[in-house]
Amino acid sequence: MATTFRIAVLASGRGSNLAALIAARDRGELPVEFALVGSDKASAGALRLAEAAGIPTLALDPRGYPDRRAFDLDLFERIAASGAELLVLAGFMRIIDADALAPWIGRMINIHPSLLPKYRGLHTHRRALEAGDAEHGASVHFVTAELDGGPVIAQARLAITPGDDEAQLAQRLLPLEHRLLPAVLGLLASHRLRWDGHTVQLDGQPLAAPLELGAHGLQPAA
Ligand code: GRF
Repeated sequence: MATTFRIAVLASGRGSNLAALIAARDRGELPVEFALVGSDKASAGALRLAEAAGIPTLALDPRGYPDRRAFDLDLFERIAASGAELLVLAGFMRIIDADALAPWIGRMINIHPSLLPKYRGLHTHRRALEAGDAEHGASVHFVTAELDGGPVIAQARLAITPGDDEAQLAQRLLPLEHRLLPAVLGLLASHRLRWDGHTVQLDGQPLAAPLELGAHGLQPAA
């Protein structure tokens, strides 16, 4: 019998993406075991969701450390000790030290609310609107030391409509995020997706362009 894929999730906020992962697991669609949910904010909604789901939690306050590097090294050591094979950043609002994340290259993904490489960093919805973009979206990518800069695995696209404001756009995008992240995680849990630091491979073939989220899940880009 295949062993269950152990994951850890880091989140700084409300945790709706974490909730989507837990729901997919509960529906039997995502063969993962949650080893740990961690946060840099003791008040994060994500921690409450994890507690309610019986998942071990960890809240670490960066203010208790001399610098960012010391915090990150401690955090990532604890994640490793949880036995997690893969780490999911789901709204984790910190830049991570390169040495701390080095052992996780190829084993850490992030969900970002833009069509990367557009709009790395913050305020992505506002920036897409201000640029007059016709479409917006979300990306899941492997994490590197470059902020929102690692190879993109898959994207979900959304047409921007004339009435959209920042809040509406974020709200319309969120349900797509909630489908995108479990779908990518499913590929990793079934060992179909790999990144060796050079090439992203799906089923042993290089992925030439990010996968696209369609009505029936992930599909190759048109
Ligand atoms: C999401 O929009 C995600 O793309 C971004 O942060 C937000 C987290 O939302 N990285 P939630 O905490 O999962 O509800």
